[in-house]
Amino acid sequence: MLKKVTKAVFPVAGMGTRFLPATKASPKEMLPIVDIPLIQYAVEEAIAAGITQLIFVTSSSKRAIEDHFDSNFELESKLEERGKLDMLSIVKDILPPGVSCAYVRQPNQLGLGHAVLCAQSLIGDEPFAVLLADDLIDCEGPYCLERMVDMYQSTASSVIAAQRVSPDETHKYGIMALDERDPSTGCLRDIVEKPKPSEAPSNLAAVGRYILTPKIFQHLAVIGRGAGGEIQLTDAISKMLKEEDVFAYQFHGVRYDCGSKLGYLQATVNYALRHPEVGEEFRAYLSSLTLQELCEI
Ligand code: G1P
Repeated sequence: MLKKVTKAVFPVAGMGTRFLPATKASPKEMLPIVDIPLIQYAVEEAIAAGITQLIFVTSSSKRAIEDHFDSNFELESKLEERGKLDMLSIVKDILPPGVSCAYVRQPNQLGLGHAVLCAQSLIGDEPFAVLLADDLIDCEGPYCLERMVDMYQSTASSVIAAQRVSPDETHKYGIMALDERDPSTGCLRDIVEKPKPSEAPSNLAAVGRYILTPKIFQHLAVIGRGAGGEIQLTDAISKMLKEEDVFAYQFHGVRYDCGSKLGYLQATVNYALRHPEVGEEFRAYLSSLTLQELCEI
């Protein structure tokens, strides 16, 4: 019988240099989009897809992530004392019952593949998800990962979230080539990490959601360093797809690259516009800005 996907890996050890000085003492994954930290969006997506064990691959400066998903007795009792019950439930209900967290350190920053390998002993012989919190995916209807779990269940194979990117941006992504015999199935022929536009097999990019079979660990353990001198998840997937099928899932929705300032700002504006508390006023504020003001700011 096909094993269920119940574990998710969140690689959160990266330094977040693109957001310095904000990330000097706080993890980049704790940057909020309005009032929810990026990592919480990724965790909510994982939980909606049926994940019950969250595995964070962390580094020494990421204590705030552990604290965020833990209870905070002092804060909770103060909120209770003051009768701020709405706030209390926001703080207490970050994780539903039955969901647990585990933390494993990535001692050296050797890349995404290495981060996933660090979680191997907690995953064992099971399929698992990987979510990159930098990639905030806004889908209508079910979350992207939920759909990917469905695809995993119908194909019994690894699934990678995919999106077309501008052909001159292939050097920022893992780029996939689909099997020409029937591209509509999404079955992959190849995947290459960050190829130059002239060498890219297509413009279909991997974005930060993966469902992987445990076979990936055999390849991660031996592939060695690839692009940028790092152990690349993409390279292990490329080896794996010579032995078993891997599928691309082209989601319908918007992906914000919240690892970049521009993507982060775009996500902030869009999420703020539909925020129940400030959305209406924020919309009024934006529409009050005249074109001239916007050009002068
Ligand atoms: C990582 C992966 C890359 C993928 C990207 C999606 O790159 O290595 O294959 O396309 O995430 O965001 P990074 O953005 O960490 O350099």
